[in-house]
Amino acid sequence: MNDRLVVRALGKQFTTAAGPFDALSDISFSVAPGEFVAFVGASGCGKSTLLRIIAGLEPLSRGEVVVDDRPILGPDRNRAMVFQDYSLYPWLTVIENIRFSRRLAANRRDTHVADARIAAERSVLLLELMGLTRVRDAYPHTLSGGMRQRVAIARALLAKPHILLMDEPFGALDAQTREVMHDLILHLLALEKRTILFVTHDVEEAVYLADRVIVLAPGPGHIDSVWRIDLAPALERTQELKRSPGFLALESQILARIRATSRLQSDLAVLHRLTGHVDRGAASS
Ligand SMILES: Nc1ncnc2c1ncn2[C@@H]1O[C@H](COP(=O)(O)OP(=O)(O)OP(=O)(O)O)[C@@H](O)[C@H]1O
Ligand SMILES: [Mg+2]
Repeated sequence: MNDRLVVRALGKQFTTAAGPFDALSDISFSVAPGEFVAFVGASGCGKSTLLRIIAGLEPLSRGEVVVDDRPILGPDRNRAMVFQDYSLYPWLTVIENIRFSRRLAANRRDTHVADARIAAERSVLLLELMGLTRVRDAYPHTLSGGMRQRVAIARALLAKPHILLMDEPFGALDAQTREVMHDLILHLLALEKRTILFVTHDVEEAVYLADRVIVLAPGPGHIDSVWRIDLAPALERTQELKRSPGFLALESQILARIRATSRLQSDLAVLHRLTGHVDRGAASS
C-alpha cells in the first residue's frame, strides 16, 4: 500500500469575530511511508491546525491533503491522533481506554469476531510494552502524567494506524520521563514502522526523534525551512547523541530560524513603557 501523505498548497482561514483570519497559507510537503517528520515553530504559527486538518478533524480552506492517492474527507482509523492533554475517558480503566475505539468499531457490521480477538491480544501486548500491566484496571486520575500519555499512545497504536499524528505528546512531562518516552517511541517505531507527524516546542526532541524537521513560521503560517536529520538510525540513537557536535549544530541552526521568525521578540520600546508604568505605580503607593 502506498500510504504516502501529500499536502498541496494547503490554506486555512478561520472566521473570527474580528473578521477572517488566515492561519495557514500555501503549505506543501509530502511524507514517505515510515518517515518521522517533526514540526516546530513559534507559538500560534498553525502547527496544531495543520495536524487537525490532516487528521480530518478540521476542514481546509484551500489546497488538498491526499493519502494513498485519495483526498482526506474526515477522520479515518488509518490516521490516529495523540493530543497533548492525553484525552483519556476518566470513567474507563486503562485497558478500557485502550480498547475504547475498538469497541466502537466492533459495533460496525464489517467487523469479525476474529478481528476482535486479535485486537484484545494486541491491547494486552501494548499494555506490556508501555509498562502499564500493573495499572491495567486503574482509572486515569490515579496515574502519573507519563503513564496517562503512554495509555494515549497505546490507544492510538491499537488499530495499527498507518499515520500517527502527535501534537506535543510529551509537552507536560518532566525531562527524565521525556527521555524514557523518546527511547520507547524510537524502539516502538523500529518494531512497527509507522509514518509519524509530530508537533513539538522542543527542538532537541525534534532533532533526536525525526528524520526531517519542518520549521513553520507565522503570519500566516507557512513553511520556513526543512531540515534533513541524518545523524544515526533510530535504534543507534542514544542520549549521548544529544551532546555530539553535529546534533548541537543542527539544533542551534533550527532554533535560530524559530527565533528569527517568531513575533514574540521583545520590543524594547514597549518594555520601557511597561517598566515606566510599573515604576510610577510603585512610586505612588
Ligand atoms: N477555531 C479557531 N478559530 C479561530 N482562530 C483559530 C482557531 N483555531 C486556531 N486559531 C488561530 O490559528 C492560529 C494557529 O493556531 P494553532 O493552535 O494551530 O497554533 P500552534 O502553532 O499549534 O500554537 P501553539 O504552539 O501555541 O500550540 C492562532 O492564531 C489561533 O488563534
Ligand atoms: Mg498547538
